[in-house]
Amino acid sequence: MRVAGNGFEGAAMPGIRRTRRLRRSAAVRDLVRETTIAAEDFIQPLFVTHGSGVRHEIGSMPGQFQLSVDQLPREIEELAEAGVKAVLLFGIPEEKDREASGAFAADGVVQRAMRAIKRENPEMLIVGDVCACEYTDHGHCGILDGCEVDNDRTVALLARIAVSQADAGADIVAPSDMMDGRVQAIRAALDDAGHVNLPIMSYAAKYASAFYGPFREAAASMPAFGDRRSHQMDPANAREALTEIAIDLDEGADIVIVKPAMAYLDVIRMARDSFDAPIVAYNVSGEYAMIKAAAQLGWIDERKVALETLTAIKRAGAGRIITYHAKEACRWLREGVLAQRRPVDVMSEWDA
Ligand code: PBG
Repeated sequence: MRVAGNGFEGAAMPGIRRTRRLRRSAAVRDLVRETTIAAEDFIQPLFVTHGSGVRHEIGSMPGQFQLSVDQLPREIEELAEAGVKAVLLFGIPEEKDREASGAFAADGVVQRAMRAIKRENPEMLIVGDVCACEYTDHGHCGILDGCEVDNDRTVALLARIAVSQADAGADIVAPSDMMDGRVQAIRAALDDAGHVNLPIMSYAAKYASAFYGPFREAAASMPAFGDRRSHQMDPANAREALTEIAIDLDEGADIVIVKPAMAYLDVIRMARDSFDAPIVAYNVSGEYAMIKAAAQLGWIDERKVALETLTAIKRAGAGRIITYHAKEACRWLREGVLAQRRPVDVMSEWDA
């Protein structure tokens, strides 16, 4: 219908490209969507702590808990019900020492957790985070030589941790320490121990990021002094990430991680364009905390912002995403938060 005399009669505009044609209804948008997210995309991190009957919510990460081993079957059941297929395990041991001996103990907290999860649900894929920082009394990622992390002694420690996790039932080990040469050493140690078929998912491009703040509360791994800038990457560098990834793949990494995710989408894209290996992005604790906090203040719609974020990380080139939103994202997807189907779709703007 034309309304006469309002000045907007719509002169003919021959030849313009009408890109809106492909946005007019949910069905058409579904048809041309380039990136989709699904339950299989997400890996849920879990913090396993010592003791029993512990289900302690982490202050800066609402909805995330430190769980004792006896609480895991219930959590794993919930995750599986939601559709989550993989978990990433961190351990908080009762005793910490200079050598991180709790990290490789056969009855260590993570090793017991792995056995408990495999008993409950052998289908749940278990990724073990291989690092020393949760197990050292000084909170650093390895063996100290004075105030510095001693690379080569730490690498030997990491190999031992990886083998102990493989023995306990890990499906994949994920070294997150950023020491040089650790992938090669872990590969050799796994092979020696008979785990030739166990993949390594290395945190290849891991930045010295302030976005890990809430994690350090969750995993009780705040360094007692100093920081991790002597081994984690400078946030200002992108090309260097390609060097790190190339080295890890060369040493035998099967899957590589870029971490964090939201402020590093360019790095994910560069990695995707440069390598054929599977790439996982780690949507870290601070990224989760920011969304939770803004949502609690009523400033954003958490479900939509979280799903949009995960879509963007995948669009940037990540094949899979480690995210604290995994369980909730699976549920929201199932509830159809992304798929609002209405005959006259524009109306959803009005009654949203
Ligand atoms: C080290 C490790 C860290 C994270 C994962 N593995 C902390 C660090 O490097 O200081 C951070 C994850 C997050 O912030 O969600 N074991």
